[in-house]
Amino acid sequence: MTLSFKTCSSPLSNRSTTKSITGAGDVAAHQYFNHKTSYRAHTTTLFFILVSLTLFGFFTLYSSPNAIYRAAFFATYRPAKSKIVSYVINAQDSNHHHQSNGSRRIRAEAVLWPGWEILVIVSPEEKLMPPLQGENYTCFYPNGEKSTARFAAILPFTNRSSFRCSLPGIYRHHHPIPTPVFASSRSFQISPETRWPDLPLWNFVVFEAISTENDVVLFVKGPNRGLGSNKPPEAFRCVYGDESDTAIRTAATSSVQEVFRCTFPNVTIHTPVKIYLEVVATGKEETKTVPSVAYFSPKRTLKEPRVKSLLCATTMVYNVAKYLREWIMYHATIGIQRFIIYDNGSDDELNDVVQVLNGEGYDVTKVLWIWPKTQEAGFSHAAVYGNDSCTWMMYLDVDEFLFSPAWDKQSQPSNQMIRSLLPSDQSLIGQVSFKSLEFGPSNQTKHPRGGVTQGYTCRREEEQRHKSIVRLSAVEHSLYTAIHHFGLKREYEWRVADTEEGVVNHYKYQAWREFKAKFKRRVSAYVVDWTRVSNPKSRDRTPGLGFRPIEPEGWAQRFCEVTDTRLKKLTRKWFGYPDKNGYRMAWQR
Ligand SMILES: *[C@@H]1O[C@H](CO)[C@@H](O)[C@H](O)[C@H]1NC(C)=O
Ligand SMILES: *[C@@H]1O[C@H](CO)[C@@H](O)[C@H](O)[C@H]1NC(C)=O
Ligand SMILES: *[C@@H]1O[C@H](CO)[C@@H](O)[C@H](O)[C@H]1NC(C)=O
Ligand SMILES: *[C@@H]1O[C@H](CO)[C@@H](O)[C@H](O)[C@H]1NC(C)=O
Ligand SMILES: *[C@@H]1O[C@H](CO)[C@@H](O)[C@H](O)[C@H]1NC(C)=O
Ligand SMILES: *[C@@H]1O[C@H](CO)[C@@H](O)[C@H](O)[C@H]1NC(C)=O
Ligand SMILES: *[C@@H]1O[C@H](CO)[C@@H](O)[C@H](O)[C@H]1NC(C)=O
Repeated sequence: MTLSFKTCSSPLSNRSTTKSITGAGDVAAHQYFNHKTSYRAHTTTLFFILVSLTLFGFFTLYSSPNAIYRAAFFATYRPAKSKIVSYVINAQDSNHHHQSNGSRRIRAEAVLWPGWEILVIVSPEEKLMPPLQGENYTCFYPNGEKSTARFAAILPFTNRSSFRCSLPGIYRHHHPIPTPVFASSRSFQISPETRWPDLPLWNFVVFEAISTENDVVLFVKGPNRGLGSNKPPEAFRCVYGDESDTAIRTAATSSVQEVFRCTFPNVTIHTPVKIYLEVVATGKEETKTVPSVAYFSPKRTLKEPRVKSLLCATTMVYNVAKYLREWIMYHATIGIQRFIIYDNGSDDELNDVVQVLNGEGYDVTKVLWIWPKTQEAGFSHAAVYGNDSCTWMMYLDVDEFLFSPAWDKQSQPSNQMIRSLLPSDQSLIGQVSFKSLEFGPSNQTKHPRGGVTQGYTCRREEEQRHKSIVRLSAVEHSLYTAIHHFGLKREYEWRVADTEEGVVNHYKYQAWREFKAKFKRRVSAYVVDWTRVSNPKSRDRTPGLGFRPIEPEGWAQRFCEVTDTRLKKLTRKWFGYPDKNGYRMAWQR
């Protein structure tokens, strides 16, 4: 189970988008203030917008493989009065600060992120890459408040710089929320004509786009929620550019979960251009446009197409640099030729580890994927992105290791080993899945010196969910994935391997010190505050662990039903070298 951030959706979504796509900077203030056309921070007209205040911050639960969303929804109306006074004071106060001259407004997209943060993404026209040292990037709000913009990351593909601003408290009760003005200094003269378009919320936004040879794939939060609620492709269109009447539109050919595909326009589109998803009018509802922070770029046709690697691997990581070396060296040795690492915002030494591995000849590409709780969408993205260079794609986590018990007869590993678990090129098998085995802490109290394959040797008896290697040309047009496997085109078959043939060792419950960090983050994905019980039945919850971040008694001996040293012996034989402590593994540094 995962938990996704959700805000009060329907009223806002309708409202913020009926105005269609006049663009990030251009949704007029009159949408915001029904009766007024211009906006002044210190006028009392502001009060009218406070009439409907909505407190949000609730959560959609959806179970991962089945993608059944269960929405828990609550909204609280708050009396506006208590806020009005401070609003006025702030607004007047702030006028004293609007005296700067050297400050420059920077065109940017923005979206409200979980945790009351605004992700500000500099528009491609600005060419701000990377941000300049010493500049004081700041978000400015209509009431005169401002918040410091902290540099977040340079987004992949478009190379846009992104920043985070904290949303001032008063706007947390606003509905809709105004998009702040982004500027490169601590003060900024806000003109009365400034427009404050509605800030897109993370539960209803186009967040990423990638092109294939003949279509474009959009990753979109919002329009499809939950199993069985995928609206048909005919309900959608892609819109290229901001001018709602004249913008080019193309038909959607697929709509599943958060992934939408549209045919290319048959006219040349001058890039960079924003790409939106339009929800076509039905009898009941008028056409509305999903706000967007994504840009369209046609697929570049490579002069010399890269030779496809046969076997690639994709994994989504967060702060796992410590384990990456063992995982990559092991899987590269048995046949993975290229690794595509989707990093969901690590702040550990991932970049260094990747750089060292590349220096040693491993082919490792890092893709920054900052979008929260979008693992399925990330995997679908990887299927398209990897399709240029990979025939087969293995989807495994970095605490999962694929092996075949039959390999114990081999004194040396070979790069044909994983290949031997897959069908021939002519076969119509499009995907092979392997059951996983869950290992416990195996008496370890810290990260084992020789790596996880050496340290963890005791596991639960029962076989767990599978993980898969998929033939990218067999992946369904919709790019549907349930993390553990993909949907396949009709002509292809799916095969689940016997555990004697191949199995995944999943080092899931590690030494407490290691597990704690992972658990904290995982749990935060399900229950927000991990000490608060709000989804106690989550299938992913660790059995018997409860909600406290303290080491449960007997942790080191838990999840230990069967001693299983098969992969330990195999990797020691293949990667172990004698040294003064007995032996050391090739990945030990
Ligand atoms: C800003 O204005 C002050 C005077 O008001 C002036 O001294 C200064 O040079 C100006 N800075 C820029 C960057 O224009
Ligand atoms: C940013 O703020 C600091 C501290 O107020 C100031 O010293 C610095 O000059 C500012 N940078 C620019 C580019 O204005
Ligand atoms: C982004 O940066 C990379 C690396 O510097 C470069 O190869 C690529 O062409 C850039 N892409 C765009 C859209 O500017
Ligand atoms: C573009 O596609 C439309 C609809 O399919 C068609 O009517 C039009 O003739 C096409 N234009 C060009 C320049 O091919
Ligand atoms: C980050 O990736 C892990 C998979 O390793 C996943 O469990 C988690 O939900 C992801 N987090 C976000 C914010 O996408
Ligand atoms: C863990 O330690 C206990 C007690 O010393 C021992 O009986 C058990 O075999 C050990 N388990 C493993 C997996 O090493
Ligand atoms: C990969 O490319 C092939 C050939 O162009 C195509 O048939 C297939 O659908 C693509 N797969 C994905 C996942 O994009």
